[in-house]
Amino acid sequence: MKYILKILREENKKSFFEEFELEYIEGSNIISALLEIQKNPINTKNGKVLPVSFEAGCLEEVCGACSMLINSIPMQACTTLIKPLIKNKNFITLAPLSKFDVLKDLVVDRSKIFDQLKKVHAWIDDGENKKIDPKIRDELYELSKCMSCGVCMEACPNYNERNDFIGPAAVSQAKLFIKHPLSKNNNKRMNEMVSKEGVFNCGNSQNCKKMCPKNIPLTESIVEMQKASNKYFFKKIFAKFFRKN
Ligand code: SF4
Ligand code: FES
Repeated sequence: MKYILKILREENKKSFFEEFELEYIEGSNIISALLEIQKNPINTKNGKVLPVSFEAGCLEEVCGACSMLINSIPMQACTTLIKPLIKNKNFITLAPLSKFDVLKDLVVDRSKIFDQLKKVHAWIDDGENKKIDPKIRDELYELSKCMSCGVCMEACPNYNERNDFIGPAAVSQAKLFIKHPLSKNNNKRMNEMVSKEGVFNCGNSQNCKKMCPKNIPLTESIVEMQKASNKYFFKKIFAKFFRKN
């Protein structure tokens, strides 16, 4: 059985779809299809073209590098099987995530995700040994599964160039490190949460939670951080007021 991969590419600042015909291989996924094209980059017009650029690291949905729009849905190419996608039609479209700068073909620049993590101080400062309450540990473990794939940002209507929103993943990571028993820089994290980039930019579409491949409870994190941010904000105002008087 043959099918077509329609891939959004860019040349001389012009975007266009390039089509490649492939033979279906049982059990294949989007990455294996892209590797086939890399071996033999001949398009449906019978022209030899530049191999399609894409990124992949772990091949098991851990690194987030292969995230792209597959039939317009943000997903990981390494775990998306071809078979269900060609059940009712013989083509699949691939495009880079739209909320990130495109470096080449399907490769986007994810550095802004890592910049957002820096802003919420998403790490522990020292390795002091401390027992963690198993309930908190389990809750934090769920949040720690984030692979910075960008899917929640792609799906969020409020994460766009007209808005400064830091995005659902960074809010969730702020919560993780605020609740962590070894955390120290919570004021820094909370200042980011109440800033113009912060958690009140969320419009409660809940798309982030629906789309997150790791089933991270993003909307719960956002609600919790909104409550904490309200408290923090008023505490800051009162502290300022009493300092003045
Ligand atoms: S929260 Fe989920 S969707 Fe968002 S970056 Fe992390 S793993 Fe990806
Ligand atoms: S290659 Fe790492 S998530 Fe797909």
